[in-house]
Amino acid sequence: MKNVELFQNERATGYNQFVEKWITNYHYFLDCLPRLLKEIKKKDLLVVGCGTGNEIERFVQAPEHWKITGIDPSPEMIIQAREKLKHYENVTLTEGLVTDLPIDTKYNAATLSLVLHFLDDNGSKLNLLKDIAERLEPGATFVLLDITVDKTQIRQNLEIYRLLLPEGLDKEEISKRLHRMENELHLVSEERITELCTAAGFEKPLRFFQSSIYMGWITKKK
Ligand SMILES: C[S@@+](CC[C@H](N)C(=O)[O-])C[C@H]1O[C@@H](n2cnc3c(N)ncnc32)[C@H](O)[C@@H]1O
Repeated sequence: MKNVELFQNERATGYNQFVEKWITNYHYFLDCLPRLLKEIKKKDLLVVGCGTGNEIERFVQAPEHWKITGIDPSPEMIIQAREKLKHYENVTLTEGLVTDLPIDTKYNAATLSLVLHFLDDNGSKLNLLKDIAERLEPGATFVLLDITVDKTQIRQNLEIYRLLLPEGLDKEEISKRLHRMENELHLVSEERITELCTAAGFEKPLRFFQSSIYMGWITKKK
């Protein structure tokens, strides 16, 4: 069972350049987050797999005042998040997994951005979603960004992804990335995302964002 993907060395230090190159409309997705959640009354947010703190940065810049807990298992990612967010007293960052957070502290919203596709679908994806759901109040909002493909059309999905990448990327680098996406990441379909979310204790998720194979979903804890 594969349930943690550690980001280390150049993969951690180069993360912010990586997203610029390979995840088109990533910034638009991040900009959506505080707007999607702005009407939640109690602004107590859990950011799972917060990485270098990019989602949290959007929330601290929002007009609303959020109390934010970010958690990530990669020490080299959390170090960058700590540096970026060091002036914000409303942000608590923890190195670890969701299961390290107390079960009796409940949040009113949570995000999980670009994490689920690293986890296998033999229990790890579902367990992570359940671990998040267990730490949310009933009715809490959950936002997810993940790669989502149709298994029967994966080549076509990846071809669209390739066509929409920025100009000037190295051809060999592109082939390596597409190969990794097809063979090493644990990509699932829209139907499977829906099944996983509902099995974990969320309502049927609604897709609000798509940029080629990256899809953003919003749902509520039942
Ligand atoms: C691609 S980065 C995404 C970072 C950030 N959420 C974003 O959207 O930019 C994936 C992050 O997931 C973290 N991660 C890996 N396995 C995880 C797990 N089982 N639970 C939570 N986070 C995990 C990694 O440490 C890494 O920082």
